[in-house]
Amino acid sequence: LEVTWDPVAAERGGYPHFMLKEIHEQPKAIRDTLIGRIAEGRDGVELAELGWPAGFAENMDRIHIVACGTSWHAGLVGKVWIEQLARVPVDVEIASEYRYRDVLRTPRTLMVVISQSGETADTLAALRAAKEGGYRVLAITNVVGSSVAREADDVIITWAGPEIAVASTKAYTTQLVALLLLAIHLGLARGTLAADKAREMLQALDNLPQLADQVLDTAPQLAQFAERYKDAHDTFFIGRGLDYAVALEGALKLKEISYIHAEAYAAGELKHGTLALITEGVPVIALATQPHLYEKTMSNIKEVKARDAFVLGMTFVGNEDLAQVVDEVIYLPQTLPVLAPVLAVIPLQLLAYYAAVARGNDVDKPRNLAKSVTVE
Ligand code: G6P
Repeated sequence: LEVTWDPVAAERGGYPHFMLKEIHEQPKAIRDTLIGRIAEGRDGVELAELGWPAGFAENMDRIHIVACGTSWHAGLVGKVWIEQLARVPVDVEIASEYRYRDVLRTPRTLMVVISQSGETADTLAALRAAKEGGYRVLAITNVVGSSVAREADDVIITWAGPEIAVASTKAYTTQLVALLLLAIHLGLARGTLAADKAREMLQALDNLPQLADQVLDTAPQLAQFAERYKDAHDTFFIGRGLDYAVALEGALKLKEISYIHAEAYAAGELKHGTLALITEGVPVIALATQPHLYEKTMSNIKEVKARDAFVLGMTFVGNEDLAQVVDEVIYLPQTLPVLAPVLAVIPLQLLAYYAAVARGNDVDKPRNLAKSVTVE
């Protein structure tokens, strides 16, 4: 008897790579992370896993978010959300920096660590240091029973399911969902977020899996773009606000699996350096999803176009004027702009994936990188 099937291929469920499978699992991963966490009538967020004492949410005066890699990028989005909705100052820091610094915390600082694996050495060390200092630590992690989950005081599990590809995709989107739920929860508890606004956001969150599914339809467009630009030496990702945070993640995805140099820049910073590198044909991926920053980003896009960059823009359906300025546009389905990061990252993941495939790279196991960095 001969075994003719490959158990690893079977696990990939028909997809050529785990990364592509995991990208496509995002609608489900988002849905699973939301299950049981939106209250009946969308009156609030159910996070029974937060065992905070009475008054804790109301009284916290600072949040430190600490993480590495993609999880750190999720934290950067979380900062914008929490500051906007819950009016608490948030610092987001790379764990390997944070743990060796003489950190200034107030007695009412909440420490949040984000880790897909729950085993990253630097993140775990930062958690332990905070705990030793007597701070309450909240972990956002994808692995039940991981070191981070066991040692934190409170844990929000992201229900992304096992993530095999080194490049994180569905873990990131579910970390975003967890952070937005936390921001809404804090906003309601602290009285900084009106109930009707919260309800509107929870409604939009409920619809998000369906919209994420639609965004997956951009795959052929990204595959084509990747094929065309697979030999590029440099690429730039630009955006402002939430778009900048997503740009950072897009650049990381592209560099880690395609090995194309990719840099993310706050669009408003371009003229402080990066513009010198923009020459004819350099691919620039420009995110313009935030209405209050749209015009500003547009003028930055015009600056790179004036240097003959090839610009792939991304915005919501309905912003037809972007197409007049850029070479190609990726349209996202309409939702509240505050939720844009969860959708906007998906085409960037697809771009990285198809660029890596076009270059013949080992997509799921990029050179020199590990899924979980448990040593320093
Ligand atoms: C490694 C992985 C990344 C991940 C980072 C942090 O670099 O390749 O995908 O974002 O570690 O991992 P964590 O498990 O703590 O989120």
